[in-house]
Amino acid sequence: MIGDILKFLREKEYVSGEVLAQKLGISRVAVWKQIQKLKDMGYKITSDQNLGYCLISRPDLLLPQEIQRGLSTNYIGKEIYYFPELKSTNIMAKEKVLHRAEGMDEGTLIIAEKQSAGKGRLGREWFSPPGGIWLSIILYPQLFPSYISRITLMTAVAVVKAIKVCTQIEPQIKWPNDILINEKKVCGILTEMSAELDIINWVVVGIGINANIDLRDFPEDIQENTISLKETSGKEISRVKLAQTFLQEFEKYYEKLKRKEFSSILKEWKLYSHTLRKKIRVDIGERIITGEAIEINESGALILKKEDGELAEIISGTII
Ligand code: BTN
Repeated sequence: MIGDILKFLREKEYVSGEVLAQKLGISRVAVWKQIQKLKDMGYKITSDQNLGYCLISRPDLLLPQEIQRGLSTNYIGKEIYYFPELKSTNIMAKEKVLHRAEGMDEGTLIIAEKQSAGKGRLGREWFSPPGGIWLSIILYPQLFPSYISRITLMTAVAVVKAIKVCTQIEPQIKWPNDILINEKKVCGILTEMSAELDIINWVVVGIGINANIDLRDFPEDIQENTISLKETSGKEISRVKLAQTFLQEFEKYYEKLKRKEFSSILKEWKLYSHTLRKKIRVDIGERIITGEAIEINESGALILKKEDGELAEIISGTII
């Protein structure tokens, strides 16, 4: 109903309560109640006894009706579960999928304005105050489990494209999936999945973008290596626009991936790479490998040329 009433309300123009009631097939009192709900959500609406209601401004929140307004995807973001606060959107997405909750179709999103226990890679914490974009996408790709790293790489490309379109800033990607601006992290991606030997059951792709966050609000220990879009561009960005653009890019690349066209995605990944042609150290858990990053192969693995000339293929690890 909230979404419906927003469709008929006009910005800078009054619509009478009677017209709204007619269009929605509800009473004028019910219209008034819906208007109060919208006001509680942060929509500014003026009312005039004779003229009706006029929408003055929308709240700066990632509300489903705002994201879905003008969203041109076929299935990514068609269903959105929105929370003012959550522990973690990935945890919520996994709970929903595991309990086979209804409506958890491919492309369903879980979005939170803030996370109290945001999860990063390798069990790290992910600082998620209001002002960021914290969301998880539920997918059921009919692909081999080995495709998981390709899903993460394509998500990184979609984030870079969306940031570029919305802010004109061109971030870089540090293998496998850190998005950097001026060598500092602006976005992280956490992909989790359940799979059998040769088939993926579900995937949850969690994306965290430091959008409108002041640097001084980040914990001191990460301030040095962290950045936000607001800090970079010197002004607040529209989180709704950025989220929409990202979802559109994400669907485009995911469709390519499903058509097994990963090589064209990889080409773009390489264009934005912060890692290739650099001497790096990679922590692979049991040891650290040093060498020059010479290639990302078709399965998304990093190829390092070690000092002795030998090549090492690294499927998962952290560049330190
Ligand atoms: C990383 O360590 O780089 C990955 C960070 C991923 C953070 C996002 S925010 C939305 C989603 N929910 C989480 O708890 N984590 C991911």
